[in-house]
Parts: sequence; C-alpha cells; structure tokens
Amino acid sequence: MDVLKSLKLEQENASTCSAQGWLDTAGARLIESINPATAKTIAKVFTCSRDDHDSVVKQSVAAQKAWANVPAPKRGEAIRRIGEELRKHKDALGSLVAMEMGKIKQEGDGEVQEMIDIADFAVGQSRMLYGRTMHSERPEHRMYEQWHPLGVVGIISAFNFPVAVWSWNAFIAAVAGNTVIWKPSSKTPLCAIAIQHICNHVMEEMGHPGIFSMFLPEDNNIAQRFVDDKRIGLISFTGSSKVGHTVARSVSKRLGRYLLECSGNNAIIVDETADLKLAVPAIVFGAVGTAGQRCTSTRRLIVHESIYKTLVAQLVNAYKQIRIGNPLDKDVLMGPLIDKHAVNDFRAAIGHVQARGGNILHGGRVIKEDGYFVEPTLVEVKRQYAIVRQETFAPILYVMRYRNMEGAIHLQNDVPQGLSSAIFTNSVKNAELFLSHRGSDCGIANVNIGTSGAEIGGAFGGEKETGGGREAGSDCWKAYMRRQTNTINWSDELPLAQGIEFDL
Ligand code: UN1
Repeated sequence: MDVLKSLKLEQENASTCSAQGWLDTAGARLIESINPATAKTIAKVFTCSRDDHDSVVKQSVAAQKAWANVPAPKRGEAIRRIGEELRKHKDALGSLVAMEMGKIKQEGDGEVQEMIDIADFAVGQSRMLYGRTMHSERPEHRMYEQWHPLGVVGIISAFNFPVAVWSWNAFIAAVAGNTVIWKPSSKTPLCAIAIQHICNHVMEEMGHPGIFSMFLPEDNNIAQRFVDDKRIGLISFTGSSKVGHTVARSVSKRLGRYLLECSGNNAIIVDETADLKLAVPAIVFGAVGTAGQRCTSTRRLIVHESIYKTLVAQLVNAYKQIRIGNPLDKDVLMGPLIDKHAVNDFRAAIGHVQARGGNILHGGRVIKEDGYFVEPTLVEVKRQYAIVRQETFAPILYVMRYRNMEGAIHLQNDVPQGLSSAIFTNSVKNAELFLSHRGSDCGIANVNIGTSGAEIGGAFGGEKETGGGREAGSDCWKAYMRRQTNTINWSDELPLAQGIEFDL
C-alpha cells in the first residue's frame, strides 16, 4: 500500500485550508516532515503567511454562522460520516502516524481508533447537549439554562498524538456548533493534512465546507496572532507547561477561554499486596510505550521496600526483551524519539541523574543509528532530584522505594504536575486511600491499571502545571459551549427576586 497516495499526500503539500479549499501557499517557506526512524524526509509542506492565517480565521468565522443554524443531530451526522471514513482509512492513517511520529504501528492504529471512538461519542452527544430546568422562586415563572456554541474553537496539538487529541476537541466542538481551526505540530504536519483531506471530502459532500480548517504558520508570530485573536472563543492547547503558561497568559489578557493539557509526571505505586503479573506489563507499557512520549507515560515508580528487589529484577528482565527498531515492523515494541533535540534531552536527563547519584539499572545510552533511537532506561533514585520532578519526554523510569503508604502518596504528589497516577494493590484500604481526597492529586487515578492508555469516555486532563483542562468524554462538551440562564415570566405581575419591593 502506498500510504501517502491513499491519503492524498504528495511530495509537496499545502498546509493551509479554509472554506475556500487549500490555499496556494507555493513560494512560502517549505518545511520537511522527517521520519524519526531514518532521519529522512517523507515529504515537504508549505507553511503559511500572516495573510493566509487571517483569511482562514475570517472564513471560519463566516462558516460558523451557518453551521450554528444546522440542528445539532445533523451536525452529529457529519461526524458520523467522518468516523466512517476514518474506519476506511484506519490502516493507512495508523501507518502514517507510525512513519511521521515514530510510535509503533499498533499504537498508531490505536490512535486512529481513539478518533473513531470519539466520533461515535460525539454523534451521541449531538443529541444530548442538555440544559437543566430549575424551579423559579417566583410564581408563574420558568427558569432554565441552555447551551450555545462559542463560535470558533482553536486547537493547538502536539506531535505525540498527531491526530487523536485534535479529534477529542474537534468532534465535540463541531457537534456543539463551532467551527474549528487546527494548528498542528510542525513535526507532524502530514498527519494533519491527511485528516484535513478526509474532513474536506465529507464536509463538501454534506454542503458544509470550512467547518474544519487548518494552518501551519511560517513563524511563531503568526501562532501568537492566532492565540491573541478575540474571534477565537476557545484555545485548546496540548503541549509543555512552559508553552502552556504563555498561551494562558495571552488568552487571559483578552479574557478568552483556554483549555490546557500540559506536562505530566505520572507515577505508579506498587504496594506489598500487588499482583506483579499485572503490574510489570503495565509499568513497561506505561514507561516504554510511545518511547515515553505520552503525556501519560509512566515516569516514576514508587515501590514498597518489601517487594522492591523482586519487582526491579522482573523489570530489568522485561526491559532486556524490548525490541527497538522501525515502528512499522511487526515485532518492534519501541520506536525512536521524535528528533535530535529529544535525544539531547534524554542524554541531559541521564547525565543529571547520574551526577546526583542515580543508579542506572538498565539502558541509559543513545543508540548510534540514523534515526533518533535511545535505550529504554530504568534508574534507581534515592530522592526526587530536580530532574525527577521534571517531565522529560523520553523512556526514562525513575524507581524509588517507600516504607508506608502515606509516604508513597506524598512522593507521588510531590511534583509540579498532576495528570495521571496509578496504584497496584489488592488492599481495599490502600486503593481507597489512594482514590480519596488524601490520595492522588491527579486528574486521573487508576487502580490496577497503568497511567497511560486512557479511554475516551472519561474526562482527560490534570491538575497543577498540567493546566486544569478536561477534554474528550464525560461532560467535557460544556467547555465548547456558552451557558445561558433564561427566566421567563408568564404572569401578569412583576415580582422581583429576593422579595424586593420597588413600587413606583
Ligand atoms: C497525550 O499523551 O497527550 O491516555 C494523550 C493515553 C492516551 C492519550 C494520551 N489515550 O495515553
């Protein structure tokens, strides 16, 4: 199968698409999409100018006016059809994600499955944009609330989930009556362009072009212009806490809305009652899956001292069996990091932790090949040094021991980030303590399941420097709509609330 061709990708691609179709940005700066497993160019992409960006926003604002008039279940029908197209293209898209991002094919396919799942979810949601009815304190008055679209929703996504995270936001935002503008990561532009082609096909057929648009700016000033634009009702940002701070500051300046999904530093606690048959594969998948480049990747392991030696021995044994290589090869379990900067970050983190007395139990080295490969790494640490408290987007797992559960929970929470967390235990007491207000301070807390691989049905996101946003399932749709409270007086009197008399 020619993956690129089947997804309408060429050797050179426009990256900027509005209701008027792909903008002719030929002549603009070209960027290369690099396969991180080979460091070779897959294809090239034209970036866009400030004027192109402005035109995308203008078209999106105009398209939204008409889209908001389409009944929500009909908007859901558009997403249903996109879901069908995604099913048809799942294999090719999964391969493209593997080629461009470097995660293994299994995980690439899984990412496309997440898109299909959220599409199904959004279709159902399109008939469930429920508001409440309240009882008014005044006679012959009715009070209720309803939800209206925000307008245009901007989505800034990261390289590590080049398609799924966009769809969590975009599909829900679209059934809510918004148009969507996507600024994908410049490291994974082809994935975004392929998805845009699929959306264009369906939305043109439905007679609603311009509901989904995208742009890839030639410089950061244009991205900043996007974030600052008052016409963008919500900016949903996925990426580092550092950039998240800047986005939040910019959007706050105009009192706009933002939804942040920033850094994680996720831990698994393994207590003395845990079933290691479950814990070991969960830890390995969490720390090594996606080469440690998920926001939900397991970065810290907190183990009860009585089982520490046994668990570490089992992990070292498991790590020895991890097959590293081309993510498209069936037997491979770990692909490359995204680029040479990520390899440098890996190297720097290992240097730091060794200088503090961290003990490498497995791995620790960069693999000398054309692509950006490193060894999956286990490091024993005595304390949570500064580097342990940071998110390094690499397959490094810091292992530490604990004596009592309160101490373990303290360690788990004693980092700036608060995305995902897990405990492996067969003790009801420990499980409940971990899930209680005295337990994990993260947005996601699991029992006998690892930190990564969340289902779309729940609300996804976390606390502290993770940014507080929630997206995907549950009632996250509310973030993409504005709530309006309505009180209707059908009496012949004008009673004031709180019993106030105001006679003329
Ligand atoms: C992310 O890393 O930003 O829970 C998203 C998971 C995936 C999504 C991760 N479903 O690992």
